[in-house]
Amino acid sequence: MRRVLDQEIMNEMMERYSTMYFSEEPVDDADLNAMLLAATQAPSAYNEQPWRFFVAKTPQDKEMLMEYMLPGEKEWISKAPVLILLAGNMGDTHNGLYNYWTAFDTGCAWGYLTLEAQRRGYVTHCIGSFDRVDLRGEFQASEDLEIYGIVALGRPADASVTAKEKQMPRKTVNAVQLRRR
Ligand SMILES: Cc1cc2nc3c(=O)[nH]c(=O)nc-3n(C[C@H](O)[C@H](O)[C@H](O)COP(=O)(O)O)c2cc1C
Repeated sequence: MRRVLDQEIMNEMMERYSTMYFSEEPVDDADLNAMLLAATQAPSAYNEQPWRFFVAKTPQDKEMLMEYMLPGEKEWISKAPVLILLAGNMGDTHNGLYNYWTAFDTGCAWGYLTLEAQRRGYVTHCIGSFDRVDLRGEFQASEDLEIYGIVALGRPADASVTAKEKQMPRKTVNAVQLRRR
């Protein structure tokens, strides 16, 4: 499955899509570390690197995150061998106030992570539909963390199953014209 454009674009970008069908095969630790390392190569405002990842690999840790999900999502996500909670540090060591760019930079880091996953033959699906307010309220961290998503990560299920999936269409490039008021 591959989106077709009239331009040559990195294979990983063209082939990636959010699957709902994971194989239960474990994720290799070296691969997982490489994906997280790839995420840290993202640019960030003032090089704050505000992204934070909580990696859930054990049934107990995965269950802790799944507790906050909707039943429909839980059903397919529970198959993924790894869940990664995507969070960002809102504190700012540069000006001592808050980091306006935390969400922007964490989004970029997750983009890098998913492309490295794709390159290594893994698939991902980020979800935002979980109770992040409750989750944030019930866990403590040494930093002021905002929570953005939970990424399911694993090998794709058998091709006979994933063949049912389709890549989502893309809109045309939204270039805007700026005019003075
Ligand atoms: C921050 C974020 C939150 C998302 N939340 C959900 C979600 O709650 N449930 C879901 O099924 N997919 C979710 N997705 C996946 C998107 O629906 C998906 O990325 C989009 O439809 C484009 O499809 P593609 O990733 O296959 O290209 C989310 C993606 C992102 C980046």
